Amino acid sequence: MAEVISQTEIGPDLYKLTISARIPQEPADRGAAPGRFCHLRVRQPESWDPLLRRPLSIYNAGGYNSELKVETSHETSHETSHETAYETDQLEFVYQIRGRGTRLLSQFQAEDQIDCLGPLGSGFSLDFSGSNIILVGGGLGIAPLYFLAQKLADINNLQVYLGASSAALLQPMSADIAKLDVKLNLATDDGSLGRAGTVFDILREDFAETSCEGNKSKQPDYIFACGPVPLLHSLQKYMTANNLPGEFSLEKRMACGSGVCLSCVCQTASGNQRVCYEGPVFPAREVIFNGC
Ligand SMILES: Cc1cc2nc3c(=O)[nH]c(=O)nc-3n(C[C@H](O)[C@H](O)[C@H](O)COP(=O)(O)OP(=O)(O)OC[C@H]3O[C@@H](n4cnc5c(N)ncnc54)[C@H](O)[C@@H]3O)c2cc1C
Ligand code: FES
Repeated sequence: MAEVISQTEIGPDLYKLTISARIPQEPADRGAAPGRFCHLRVRQPESWDPLLRRPLSIYNAGGYNSELKVETSHETSHETSHETAYETDQLEFVYQIRGRGTRLLSQFQAEDQIDCLGPLGSGFSLDFSGSNIILVGGGLGIAPLYFLAQKLADINNLQVYLGASSAALLQPMSADIAKLDVKLNLATDDGSLGRAGTVFDILREDFAETSCEGNKSKQPDYIFACGPVPLLHSLQKYMTANNLPGEFSLEKRMACGSGVCLSCVCQTASGNQRVCYEGPVFPAREVIFNGC
């Protein structure tokens, strides 16, 4: 059980939830790494409805250096040693009310107990070469990118492309990313923030201009993306045509969240993969979108 520290409405039907969580940051496959998610029970502890948890990406993780007290007890002596470890003590999530589950989640208040399973799944691998990195987020797919952008912000040239339907959805999350040392490019469908159009439109526009100038140094070395399937599918075709490597974080409806029920299976070049277990992050070129 975790405790809700705060729940704030940061936009219309858009919430930031902060909970307490004592988890190690290392190793990455057990800790709060960018791209991993938590599976939250959205019902109050006394209720069984709804039965299934809801998955949310880790938006941010607050940490501190803790002094762990290690006590060893022997028959004749009692020894205490101290070790320092970096731990996560807070997890943040940003979510939009989509249906009943997220509406129930929005009713949790500070000091309520919340059942949080995780962090789960594979995070972004961060196993890339080169320093021109692009992050692309569409809609709520922006959620895992703030944490990732913080980890990558010391990279020479980090460009972030974010898009959403309107400023009301885009502004709260883009404002957090704007505080980092990154070049931010924004798009909204209605033109209320950034350029009018989709995030894919503006990215393609920028790189078409780059090609005309022949300025190869601006070509990205690696792309990380999360968002709706049409965005990722278009991006995949673009990346394949330009031989650009990268990783996509996928979203599928989930039941168990831990690899058992197979309800979140997605087709990839390496066969069927569970989004909750092998994913949600996959190599961009491996994902077969017709099978997702
Ligand atoms: C790994 C992962 C990370 C996610 N991270 C975030 C996040 O950080 N912020 C956020 O707002 N949302 C995130 N989602 C989506 C979120 O889990 C769903 O919006 C939520 O479960 C909907 O529950 P509900 O009961 O409110 O809606 P429901 O009543 O179950 O469904 C309402 C609508 O949402 C769609 N939907 C339901 N579940 C999903 C799903 N898993 N993926 C995509 N669409 C869904 C349905 O098709 C339907 O149209 C994530 C999903 C996954 C798989
Ligand atoms: S949700 Fe059960 S296997 Fe992924």
